[in-house]
Amino acid sequence: MQVLGIESSCDESGVALVQWQAAEPPRLLAHALYSQVDMHRAYGGVVPELASRDHIRRVLPLARQVLAEAGSRLGDIDLVAYTRGPGLAGALLIGAGIGCALAAALGKPVLGVHHLEGHLLSPFLSADPPQFPFVALLVSGGHTQLMRVQGVGDYTLLGETIDDAAGEAFDKSAKLLGLGYPGGPALARLAGHGDAHAFTLPRPLLHSGDLDFSFAGLKTAVATQVRKLGLAPSAQQRADLAASTQAAIVEVLVRKSMHALRQTGLARLVVAGGVGANLALRADLNVACAKSGVRVHYPELHLCSDNGAMIALAAAMRVQAGRTIPERGLTFDVKPRWALDAIDGS
Ligand code: KG4
Ligand code: ZN
Repeated sequence: MQVLGIESSCDESGVALVQWQAAEPPRLLAHALYSQVDMHRAYGGVVPELASRDHIRRVLPLARQVLAEAGSRLGDIDLVAYTRGPGLAGALLIGAGIGCALAAALGKPVLGVHHLEGHLLSPFLSADPPQFPFVALLVSGGHTQLMRVQGVGDYTLLGETIDDAAGEAFDKSAKLLGLGYPGGPALARLAGHGDAHAFTLPRPLLHSGDLDFSFAGLKTAVATQVRKLGLAPSAQQRADLAASTQAAIVEVLVRKSMHALRQTGLARLVVAGGVGANLALRADLNVACAKSGVRVHYPELHLCSDNGAMIALAAAMRVQAGRTIPERGLTFDVKPRWALDAIDGS
């Protein structure tokens, strides 16, 4: 089965072709990505209307590129998958509209996929794929969640952020440090030159006893430190503050993940979402998991952020597991707000 995946929930247009054969590991035949980062940078964040308009321009050329790279033809596609939600409504509608039109024209079925399920299953495309069950730490720009994952589509929410997501904490702190958009990778780079102990920053909800997160207070603390540093902080002061901020976010994510593993009695952790690309997080998780005898899995670095491969893969895995029957026809909807643990109830 060849699945064409289309991702357009935010500021990346992603298209990929994944091959799925029962009893064989899934294979990424080709994938292509167009990031809108340069366009949104001028505005300091994603402008939804501009995002939608740009997805319209990119998706079909990306699909042509992917088919050419894979050496496949339109007729080889067995299933079209698109991101149904959560995300920006207008942006989602572009991928959904193109995906459904393409499937209808080809006479093939189509499936709308949950964006976070795509992230969560993306490590199955890595060289070291996980096995069910596992605890998943989902850390993206809009979500921070710990999930117990029993199988495809079988997700129990263990805890989540009560305010900002981890990615948002990176992005907002980066903005305060004058790093612009998108802040996460820039803050991580600056942190590499700084001392993580230079500033004392809060670790919100670290000892709350539950698996919830809160990052809004951390952002306020970073804002206070930036104000104290005045108008012309030195390069070293900025790097130290970046390193201290990253350390605070990473410590909370690592401690809560280990808590979730103890609570569930599971010995396998899957990390997914854009913040999963953070190397400090990976290093600290590797140490903590090794100490506790836990196997930890990550997506390939280039599949941590939004992409079409994870959407194609999630669709293939859902069909294979008998979780969903893809539809035929021209009706579709999108779900800008959509809880992952309610995925099969809607
Ligand atoms: O999963 P993703 O690409 O999009 C969403 O579904 O939200 O995640 C994007 C988030 C952004 O907040 C971005 O700053 C963050 O992931 N991010 C990082 C790194 N790379 C991306 N944060 C910290 N360190 C990184 N290396
Ligand atoms: Zn995402």
